[in-house]
Amino acid sequence: MSSTTTNWVKKHVISLEDFTPTEYDTVLNTAVSFKDVLNSRTKKVPALQGQVVANMFFEPSTRTRSSFELAAKRLSADILNFAPSTSSLTKGETILDTAKTYLAMGANIMVIRHSHSGVPLNIAQEMDRLKTGVSIFNAGDGLHQHPSQALLDLFTLCSLLDPKNPRISLLEGKKIAIVGDILHSRVARSNINSLLASGARVHLAAPPTLLPQLFADTVPSVYHDRLFLHWHLTPALEDADFVMTLRLQKERMADYLLPSLREYHQLFGLTHDRISHCNTDVKILHPGPVNRGVEISSELMDDPRFSLISQQVTSGVAVRMALLYLIGNLK
Ligand code: NCD
Repeated sequence: MSSTTTNWVKKHVISLEDFTPTEYDTVLNTAVSFKDVLNSRTKKVPALQGQVVANMFFEPSTRTRSSFELAAKRLSADILNFAPSTSSLTKGETILDTAKTYLAMGANIMVIRHSHSGVPLNIAQEMDRLKTGVSIFNAGDGLHQHPSQALLDLFTLCSLLDPKNPRISLLEGKKIAIVGDILHSRVARSNINSLLASGARVHLAAPPTLLPQLFADTVPSVYHDRLFLHWHLTPALEDADFVMTLRLQKERMADYLLPSLREYHQLFGLTHDRISHCNTDVKILHPGPVNRGVEISSELMDDPRFSLISQQVTSGVAVRMALLYLIGNLK
């Protein structure tokens, strides 16, 4: 692992917009090593012994928070868990003061989730201004980015194609459909960055209220020949190699943008029937949490012939170990 570490230069991981192919491959390679650690008897390495990881989730989370916690523990770091409802935030403390409190306790890495886009970046800038040496990891900010989710999705896909040597170029030319609430999804935004960087063809499908035509302008024009927008599901699914479906982010919708969940399921919900348009060996991903029977049928979600959902969760720990290891060994 030492050769990959020396190549790593990112102190903070805020967004995948500026990730290079080498950085993607470094994360994938490092995650393979940690997958081996997780499959070994001891499951633990001393790589971050003595370092403190603060898990600061200002928004609800099950898998991302637990996954970062387990990853930090498997690396032998000490972990501080922050729960907003029982914290001094309820007494008026600002987010920045909360971060400075953890800094004073010796936090080396802060993993931050917040409902407002930009919060992790602001804290990173403040930590740099104060020359603290602290690394900030964005664990999901508003509608903006969710880098670790897209990296674990990438690892899940590339490991399926070559488990020993997953690399971003394996996805070149593959057709990948992203279906659902793209407008409100930070997972979609981060995945669009990584999948387009891999050379895949990315087909987005959603009702127009959840996928405005202008969305394409948020993606650099060099990628426009491989980015396709659809307001109907079937053309996005035709011959797809992989389909990623997304939760309807009701908490982020200013107004209700759909007539009914039933209608949404009829038009955009994934079912066995619908995926018959895809390649026969198509695989389905979902970042979770899932609204069963809305974006995907319960039967399809639980069908191991197609669903990679539990592999995504498993990959998450190895990928987050890789990321914490890479940023934790910079200094
Ligand atoms: C996603 C998130 O929080 O952005 N979940 C996750 O991290 N696994 C997606 C979602 O909430 O739908």
